[in-house]
Amino acid sequence: MKKILFVTSEAHPLIKTGGLADVSSSLPKALAELGQDVRLILPNYGALNLNNQVNFCSEFTVGTHTIRLLETKLPDSSVLVWLIDCPEYFGMAGNPYVDGFGHSYANNAERFALFCRAAIEVAMNRVEIDWKADIVHCNDWQTGLIPALLSMEYECPQTVFTIHNMAYQGLFSGLTASVLQLQPELLSPDGLEFHSMISFIKGGIAYADKITTVSPTYALDIQTPELGYGLEGLLIYRNEDLTGIINGIDDDWNPEHDALIAQKYSVKSLPDKVVNKTALQTRLNLPVDENVFLMGLISRLVEQKGIDLILDCFAELLSLPIQIVILGSGDKDFEKRLNQFAAAYPHKMSLTLGYDESLAHLIEAGADVFLMPSRFEPCGLNQMYSQSYGTLPIVRKTGGLADTVIDTLPDTIANQTATGFVFNEESAGALLETVKRAVLLHSFPVAWKQLQTNAMTRDFSWKSSAEQYLDLYESIE
Ligand code: ADP
Ligand code: GLC
Repeated sequence: MKKILFVTSEAHPLIKTGGLADVSSSLPKALAELGQDVRLILPNYGALNLNNQVNFCSEFTVGTHTIRLLETKLPDSSVLVWLIDCPEYFGMAGNPYVDGFGHSYANNAERFALFCRAAIEVAMNRVEIDWKADIVHCNDWQTGLIPALLSMEYECPQTVFTIHNMAYQGLFSGLTASVLQLQPELLSPDGLEFHSMISFIKGGIAYADKITTVSPTYALDIQTPELGYGLEGLLIYRNEDLTGIINGIDDDWNPEHDALIAQKYSVKSLPDKVVNKTALQTRLNLPVDENVFLMGLISRLVEQKGIDLILDCFAELLSLPIQIVILGSGDKDFEKRLNQFAAAYPHKMSLTLGYDESLAHLIEAGADVFLMPSRFEPCGLNQMYSQSYGTLPIVRKTGGLADTVIDTLPDTIANQTATGFVFNEESAGALLETVKRAVLLHSFPVAWKQLQTNAMTRDFSWKSSAEQYLDLYESIE
């Protein structure tokens, strides 16, 4: 049994801005089910959604800061969560990384460096709780200093660094090095230095024993200049220690027992799915029509997600016999342009700006197809959720989307493996053609039902991915 400290900056349902939160609760649960002693550690943000009891564990100092270590459990699980309580850095309500205007907090380097140092104190058993990690599993740039700082420690735990998104690197001015009192040994071009700046993600990539990312295709993508963001050379150099392990999905996203949808259903009761469609149309004030081709989209509204590809063909898209339901928030310009279309096509389009967990579930259950034309996608969860709800994904062939959606082609129809619609070219034209292909197929109910059945019977559970992580932990010398 391994003692695993899973370090993350978000975990569902405590705090979530994206898929990292989903993974950070479901992977530890799956590892616990495999008999591992796994504990989560995250900052005690003012915005945490805490339902379970929180207990005080210990108090220690990091630099000039006094840290209280608090303890709770992940809801509906026995997985223990440690919270790093430091109100001057994490006490404010709201988003963990950005202010109300979408700007990164000015002291993010200090905030997450403190989080990293506090997690190290816990991992090294220096906080009087009598637990020392065998493995410290770090996630994304917010935890990137941990492998770097641990490399300076005597008898340190082994480290795994998972890249959920190379586009977010934690880059700070070179002056930050002295503010953070980073040892000079760590500041070389082989270390944290990146074009005279300090790169937190590089700390993970350069110093972790093993590096993973969240799909096999993205593990290759990030070794290219297009998606390596200047770190492709280092990733190629570390190639032997880099693997892609696809995310699984949590059982919360299962239409058979999803409490947030209007009507539960399974592959055996597929006709019941339509109750969710009409509930969705009613809730969003769209004309109720069981037969119309209903497209769903739930996303951070950022360039990664190909929102501009949709905007570039939106007028033509909306001239098709469809409805489209969008839930998301992010880039203000995207929000404004989407709003203009929503105002112009009130009978065909519904736009909900903001974050809404229950609406997200109803969209997955109620839509016929799910649109995810990402420019790049490390893994992507919604295309897998969609398949389990029999809502066929329309995706661009990149990263985890390429690894998890099987295009509808003559051979994949014949061998009953087709589960969605895939296009390759990063263009509005290719997206539009693929939507038209799906609309056409939707008019053949028997064929459509077979695609839904193919999608719903795929196994996206966490078990096999968690086993791959465990094998990886065990492979570290
Ligand atoms: P990413 O992490 O890049 O945002 P993923 O597909 O991995 O993309 O995960 C996104 C997660 O966030 C999914 O669980 C999705 O349902 C959820 N999500 C994104 N935007 C919203 C929103 N506006 N309201 C509710 N859930 C959202
Ligand atoms: C990131 C990626 C997304 C992935 C998620 C969880 O946010 O953008 O593709 O599914 O992390 O690994």
